[in-house]
Amino acid sequence: MHIEAQPGHMGAIASGVDLSKPVADADCEQLNSALMTHHLLCIRDQDLAPPQFAAAARLFGTPQIQFLNDYRLEEAQEVTVISNYNKLGGDKPHVRATHWHSDDSYFAEPGRVTMLLAKALPSSGGGTHFIDTMAVLDAMPENLRAKIAGRRAVHKYLSRRNVAKVAIRTPEEEALTPDVSHPLIRTISETGRQALYINPNRIDHIEGLDNAQSDALLDEVYAFAFEERFQHRHDWQLGDLVMWDNACTMHRAGTDFDVTELREFHRVLLQGRVPQ
Ligand code: SIN
Repeated sequence: MHIEAQPGHMGAIASGVDLSKPVADADCEQLNSALMTHHLLCIRDQDLAPPQFAAAARLFGTPQIQFLNDYRLEEAQEVTVISNYNKLGGDKPHVRATHWHSDDSYFAEPGRVTMLLAKALPSSGGGTHFIDTMAVLDAMPENLRAKIAGRRAVHKYLSRRNVAKVAIRTPEEEALTPDVSHPLIRTISETGRQALYINPNRIDHIEGLDNAQSDALLDEVYAFAFEERFQHRHDWQLGDLVMWDNACTMHRAGTDFDVTELREFHRVLLQGRVPQ
């Protein structure tokens, strides 16, 4: 097995390992450590049916069951399908998740790691873009950092500032997603380092501020965090298994592809302790 760090502040690519077969403990440790160090890890050339994917995910943590019933796969309840032909678009292809976000921040315990396995890709474009929110916080001007230090943000499934289409929930699913709040700066327990924790799509407001003050501060934080220098793009190959740490990253789907061409991933979310 070979692991290579990507240029810049985030991302590593592993090759020479087949997760459909037993993986040596030492390799497993190296992969987990690469994920924690680089926040984003791609393992090339994985040909995994959904039950094999769910089993491989257990090398990295405990898969959680997707709370939206309709998105689960029969063969493996932990695996969902992410596709540009999905319910949100009706019968038209639709690129989802094109705005910066961190997965499932509307839960008190958001999935810590997301794993996406590339099953079908357009002929060009359609990369996934990432922001390293640890790098963002490290570079943040002191005056801006001081404005958010110690503050918490309220995350809602359907927030006042929502910019993307969100799935319709059944009343039972709504009951599973009450509003929650998370600190804007969190300490990652494994490393003791701090990261900005934002999800522009789900943050409704900052606690203790009125909407106008909160909107102004959020806009300022987002403008800084979205700067090009904190970004990395993953260009997909079929069989790529890409995973990232939601505690210190944000991501979004690229839109630079022919949307009539199928772009499809299988996804597993791993449970995680929420660093506070
Ligand atoms: C996601 O945000 O869940 C998927 C990202 C992508 O489609 O590139």
